[in-house]
Amino acid sequence: MPDNIYLPSLGRIAYIKDEVVGERAIKTFHVEPLDGGWFDHDCGQCAMLSVFGRGEAMISIASSPLVKGYKQFSIMRVGRVSSAFHDLSVGDVVGIRGPYGNSFPIDDWRGKNLVFIGGGCGLAPIWPLITTAVAQRGDFKDITVFYGGRTSRDIMYRAELEKLRGSVDVHLSIDKMEEGWDGYCGFVPASVMNRDPSPQNAIAITCGPPIMIKFVIQNLNKLGFKDEQIYTTIENKMKCGIGKCGRCNVGKDYVCVKGPVYSWAELKYLPEEY
Ligand SMILES: Cc1cc2nc3c(=O)[nH]c(=O)nc-3n(C[C@H](O)[C@H](O)[C@H](O)COP(=O)(O)OP(=O)(O)OC[C@H]3O[C@@H](n4cnc5c(N)ncnc54)[C@H](O)[C@@H]3O)c2cc1C
Ligand code: FES
Repeated sequence: MPDNIYLPSLGRIAYIKDEVVGERAIKTFHVEPLDGGWFDHDCGQCAMLSVFGRGEAMISIASSPLVKGYKQFSIMRVGRVSSAFHDLSVGDVVGIRGPYGNSFPIDDWRGKNLVFIGGGCGLAPIWPLITTAVAQRGDFKDITVFYGGRTSRDIMYRAELEKLRGSVDVHLSIDKMEEGWDGYCGFVPASVMNRDPSPQNAIAITCGPPIMIKFVIQNLNKLGFKDEQIYTTIENKMKCGIGKCGRCNVGKDYVCVKGPVYSWAELKYLPEEY
């Protein structure tokens, strides 16, 4: 960690993949440390990434903490900084500072069934948790992944999700039927109800657009999941990432420090400022 907490370490882009193309394009990047080594992270933490001269953005670390050689980030093109990332090439140097925020309490969940529910770019923040649980498969009971995109072309990590089948129950969905699609057709909350996962000895982790999270949580409650069995991450706009600027607060919490991971039992009592 540099003396100046705002000073980023340098990383080199080692790999770029187009996950989703078109209007809501998502690219996945592997960033390697330029100077040999850098920070460890836990599942659910984020990093502030910078393109020099273009700005910084908070992005979830999408690789498992078990992966040491690089950190993975999947970035949707929405504005200035994310577009600057999409314009980069392998070999380009970026800034990275972190890790920031809290993490999923994965050690408390060993011996439990895990139900992951993601939508759109919301698979990235829960991907380190999914891949860590799969790498430590014997520590967990059933693992189920529900994931949906608007269309089949909006499904990210498609090949990786297919590889999980066998050790993990994977249910993919798209909003409207397309020729050749053999997964569920409908919104993610309905896809969950269609399979009605049991709340017995289970934890549900959901991330995606706020409207999806709202209905997923309602449906999980209907299935018998208690609020403390449901976890999510929130993406309030952030500036400093270290609890100094007040940009990200929800009620009394600076999300960059207290979040982004919350159980629904904690989040439901905070003002709806996320
Ligand atoms: C904890 C955390 C984790 C995140 N993880 C990821 C990730 O893994 N991948 C990813 O692509 N993005 C992620 N984001 C969102 C990302 O930080 C923002 O999209 C980023 O600020 C975009 O920067 P920009 O300069 O491209 O867009 P800007 O030019 O700043 O904004 C473009 C548009 O997006 C809106 N916007 C910007 N930030 C947010 C936000 N946080 N929530 C809602 N709308 C916003 C703006 O209002 C504007 O309409 C995360 C955010 C947080 C706080
Ligand atoms: S981003 Fe500055 S306090 Fe959270």
